[in-house]
Amino acid sequence: MNITVVGSTNMDLVYLVPHIVKAGETLHSTKHELFFGGKGANQAVTAGQLGANVHFIGNVGADDFGEQIIQNLQNKNVNTAAVQKVGMTGQAIIQLADSGENSIVLFPGANFLVSTKQVEENTERIVSSNVLLLQLEIPMPAVETAATIASQKDVKIILNPAPAHQISDTLLSKISILTPNETELAILTGLKTETEEDLFQSCSLLLQKGVGAVVVTLGAKGAYYMDHYEHGHVQANNVGVKDTTGAGDAFNGALAVGLCHGNTLKDSILYASKVAGFVVTQMGAQPSIPSSFQVNNV
Ligand code: RIB
Repeated sequence: MNITVVGSTNMDLVYLVPHIVKAGETLHSTKHELFFGGKGANQAVTAGQLGANVHFIGNVGADDFGEQIIQNLQNKNVNTAAVQKVGMTGQAIIQLADSGENSIVLFPGANFLVSTKQVEENTERIVSSNVLLLQLEIPMPAVETAATIASQKDVKIILNPAPAHQISDTLLSKISILTPNETELAILTGLKTETEEDLFQSCSLLLQKGVGAVVVTLGAKGAYYMDHYEHGHVQANNVGVKDTTGAGDAFNGALAVGLCHGNTLKDSILYASKVAGFVVTQMGAQPSIPSSFQVNNV
C-alpha cells in the first residue's frame, strides 16, 4: 500500500463564533484552537493512520509551525523526506459557527512555492506508488507535472479538485478518479447539480473528457459515483455533526486506502464515507482522523 500525496500543509487557526462574521462586523470568538491542517496533509495523515506507506511531497515554512508540521506528519506514519522548508507556513483562518457552518481564509505561504522541479525530483516516489493523491492548494503546474509522471506508469491518480478551480482537459484526461463536491462539479462542468439526473449528466461529461471515474461527495446525502461500468448513490452514515473541516480530505485519503486494498470503487466509497462520518463528529481536521482500529469498531 504505497500512497504518495503531492499537496499542501497548513496550520489551522480555528475560531468558534456564534455566526460567520459579516462585512464590517466585529465579533467575539468564544474559543480558539490550533490544529494541523491543509488538504494535502489531511489526506496524507488519513492514509497513514489507516495503515498505508505514505510519502508527502510539499512545503512547510522555515518557521516553528513548519517544524511542528513535519514532526506531526512523521508521528502519523508519513514520510517527509520530500518536504522542503521555505518561506512561511501556510495558514487557514477558520471560523466555525454554532450552526456547524464554517468559512476559511487561506494564506498559502510555502504551499504556493511547490514547484514542478520539486515534483520532478521526486519522480521515483511517485512512480513506485499504487495511488497518487492530488488536490488544488498548490500551483497548478506542480499538480499537472505530478499527474503526467504518474500517468506514464501504472499509478492510479485521485484528484480532489478543491478549492474549486478550472482544470484543463489535458489534466482531466490523466485522472483515474475525480472527487468533486457539488460546487466544484458545477464549476468544472458549467452544469446544474441539483438532481440525480443532473449528476448523471455532469459525470458523463467528465467521463467523455477522459476521467476514469467520478465520485461526487454530497455531505450528509452521501456520494454519487460513476465509472465506465456503473453509476449509483452511496448513503452517508447519519452522525452528529460537530465540525465538517477536513471531512472531504479524510474521504479522499480513505478512498485511496480502500482501493489499495483491492476493493471495488463502490466498496472503497463506503469505507471512505465511514471514515468521513467519524471525522465530522470531532473538532479539527487532523485530530479527528481515526486509526484503522477505530474505523473497524465504528
Ligand atoms: O479541507 C480542510 C482544509 O482546508 C483545512 O485543514 C485547511 O487547512 C484548508 O486547507
